[in-house]
Amino acid sequence: MIKETVLVIGASGQLGTELVETLRGIYGESNVIASDIRKGEGAVFENGPFEVLDILDTVRWREILTKYKPTHIYHLAALLSATAEVNPEYAWKLNMDGLFHVLDAAKEEGTGIKRVYWPSSIAAFGPNTPRRNTPQYGPMDPTTVYGITKYTGELYIQYYKNRYGVDTRSLRYPGLIGYKSAPGGGTTDYAVQIYHDALAGVEHECFLKEGTVLPMLYMPDAIRATLEVMHAQEEKINMRMSYNLAGMSFGPEEITQSIQKHLPDFKTIYKPDYRQAIAESWPAVIDDSLANDHWGWKPEFDLDSMTTDMLLNLKKL
Ligand code: SER
Repeated sequence: MIKETVLVIGASGQLGTELVETLRGIYGESNVIASDIRKGEGAVFENGPFEVLDILDTVRWREILTKYKPTHIYHLAALLSATAEVNPEYAWKLNMDGLFHVLDAAKEEGTGIKRVYWPSSIAAFGPNTPRRNTPQYGPMDPTTVYGITKYTGELYIQYYKNRYGVDTRSLRYPGLIGYKSAPGGGTTDYAVQIYHDALAGVEHECFLKEGTVLPMLYMPDAIRATLEVMHAQEEKINMRMSYNLAGMSFGPEEITQSIQKHLPDFKTIYKPDYRQAIAESWPAVIDDSLANDHWGWKPEFDLDSMTTDMLLNLKKL
């Protein structure tokens, strides 16, 4: 068992819920502190410490730091792309000030924070980014406030590493798909809902158009990538913004066909809304060769193997 104290901020979200469960298996239940503005549902929130924390509340933030002295922080609290467009001012505040509160604590020697994980996203790219084989470096002109906070955050985590030696690690996640927890406010969320609709025997009303190809990643791969980059030796992380990360790419009609291999009567209808424009500003296929070169990243799941696993596990719930 590795002896560290891990704090997850934003633990009740889609990624946080699964990450806390996995981290508790590695570090021990009492050594992983889950925190969020509200307690999530499920066994994971009863199996170990949970603290209510709004990362914008600096007094409470300092209390948590003093109480637990975390060595490793996963800072996941943020508004995602679609929700952020509804409340852009608050999204900037939460996504940026929250990150600064974590980075500023990490740069103080007395806090004992050794490493910080902070997620970026495909939303950091924009309409002038090449949509196919999107390179690690290239034009970045995000059009959403969420994407603007991710791109700015990437520059700041690099700055804190170079200027203050804070060991920050980061991945540009594609859309994340999993069965254990619900997504919250993203443009890629349809690709989770579609499985629930298929099993409920109803047609899926998709908020994106046919042919809208986006990069996606199955949650077990996303969790593994997160832990691999966090556990990699420091000298392997030779890029201090956020690594491109890829799993698979598909449009709504392709995931529909994949589900139809198991449930032939399943149908999707298309009613695109404001999220269509967000999706069209993002890449379709990501080149993640740098992550492979630096720390050996390789996804395991493709669309059909993900579909088989999702349907199997959702049926058990
Ligand atoms: N899945 C996220 C979103 O749609 C992308 O980071 O907002």
